[in-house]
Parts: sequence; structure tokens; C-alpha cells
Amino acid sequence: AATYETLLVETKGAVTVITLNRPKALNALNSTVMAEMVAAMAAFEADASQGCAIVTGSGEKAFAAGADIKEMAEMPSAQFFAQDFFADWTSKVVKATRKPWIAAVNGFALGGGCEVAMMADFIIASETARFGQPEVTLGVLPGMGGSQRLTRAVGKAKAMDLCLTGRMMGAEEAERAGLVARVVPAAALMDEAMKAAEKIASLPPLAIKANKEAVNLAFETTLDTGLVMERRLFQVLTATRDKEEGMAAFVEKRAGVWKGE
Ligand code: CAA
Repeated sequence: AATYETLLVETKGAVTVITLNRPKALNALNSTVMAEMVAAMAAFEADASQGCAIVTGSGEKAFAAGADIKEMAEMPSAQFFAQDFFADWTSKVVKATRKPWIAAVNGFALGGGCEVAMMADFIIASETARFGQPEVTLGVLPGMGGSQRLTRAVGKAKAMDLCLTGRMMGAEEAERAGLVARVVPAAALMDEAMKAAEKIASLPPLAIKANKEAVNLAFETTLDTGLVMERRLFQVLTATRDKEEGMAAFVEKRAGVWKGE
């Protein structure tokens, strides 16, 4: 497997675990992290033996405390625009990844950290997780999707509250608000995330991809178009071997064996 400067990447069976690994900077997301995440996610996507990924932070304290403020403080303004800084997170990490990935959030998920968690297909949070978009306190605003993905996840009231005050919200509040799928004790976080990822990786891969695509469409299009697309994906899946196998296995009261065809 490739080695990285700012990430630890391990494969455990069919699950790829990607750990943001700059603990001294609370896993702050600099340009190297961004480039390495693009590479690590592309490798996960391309590896047919891998069915689901988990992204987490090293250490107990943080998932990621944001984009790297020290790097941004030094960067000339024109360079942010010239490079379309932060764009790769959406185009190359989110959109290019059709397989599912889970954010396992331990500790601070602030600014870009909250935004990376929201890029995942869902978030499993430790009881100690804290989410926020404190960019306003730095004289800026979220730059990796916080104003858009957070608002879609929790609605205007709480998104405004977090973006305008910069306050943090705990795991329970985040779950109540619909940002987080599950909250678990800190010691159980990786076990719970692994169980979920292994379950996903054990299911028919084409159906997994179609389910992910369909749910994401709900954020991109009208209800009518989304419903048409959902039916088309359903109809496409009926032509797969895995659909034949899945339905036969149900009728025969046995476990399915998937081909990804
Ligand atoms: N960038 C760079 N370094 C960071 C960092 C960040 N986002 N967050 C923390 N660090 C560094 C600190 O500078 C410190 O380094 P030194 O030991 O060299 O001083 C180290 O990590 C430990 O942090 P603290 O000493 O601050 O730890 P703490 O427990 O006192 O506080 C914290 C924790 C409340 C999370 C605090 O670190 C903090 O407020 N961090 C910044 C949070 C933030 O503003 N994030 C938004 C960044 S902007 C952004 O993300 C833009 C975007 O939308 C894409």
C-alpha cells in the first residue's frame, strides 16, 4: 500500500481505514492532506477488494480542527482563487467516489473538519465529538461546503446559529439535528464504524452504489426528477446477477453470494 505523510491508510478485509494523521496540529487539513486524501480515496475507489472506507482522526482529541490556519495565513489571496483552493475536496474526494465512506468523528470536527465529516455518506460520532463552523471568527466563512452541506443537513436555524456565532455543538445536539447518524461511547467508536463498514462491504456492490447515488440525488434535483431517477436505478438493478441471486437467496432462505455483476 502507498505511504503518506499526513495519512495512515490500512485495509482491514474489505474496509479501508484512512486516518488523518497530524495530531500535533489537531489533524488540521493543509494542502498535503488534501492531495493525499485525493490519492487515498482514488486508490480505495479503484481497488475491487474494498467495499467501504472509514475516515477518522488520529488521537483522541480531534477528527480535524479545520483547514490549516497557519498555511492559509501565509498564502497570497490570488493563489486561493488561481488554484480554486478547496475545490478538489468536492470534485475529487466526494464526486469521484461512488463507493460509500463513513466519517468516524472523535473529538473536534471544526471548520474544514466538520466539512470533511459532512462529505462522508454518514457520520458516526463519539460522545466527545464537537462540531462547528468557527470560520467567522477568523474573518472568513466555511470554504469546503459548510454553509451548504450543513444547511441541508440541519436546516437554516441551526446552520445560521453555528455559522454566525462560531459556537460548537456536541454529539447529542448534532444527532438530534440530523447531522449525525449514530452517537456511541468514545471507546466503541472504531468498533461501531468497522461493523457498519463491514456490513456495507458485505452487501451487493452495484446495489450499494445505486443506493448512494439515489440518496445523493435528493440534494441535487427536484422530487419528480429524483423519483424518476430512483425508478430508473431500480430498473437497472433488476438486470443484474446480484438481483437474481438476492431474490433467489431470500426465497431459498440462505445468504446471498454477490458477484458485483
Ligand atoms: N490550523 C492549524 N493549526 C491548528 C488548527 C488549525 N485549524 N487547530 C489547531 N491547531 C494547532 C494549534 O495551533 C496548536 O499548535 P501549537 O501547539 O503549535 O500552538 C495545536 O494544534 C493544538 O491546538 P490548541 O493548543 O489550540 O488546542 P486547544 O485544546 O487549546 O484548542 C481548539 C482546541 C478549540 C480546537 C483550537 O485549536 C481551535 O480553535 N482551532 C481552530 C479551529 C478553527 O478555527 N477551525 C476553522 C479553520 S478555518 C477553515 O476550516 C476554513 C474552511 O472552511 C475550509
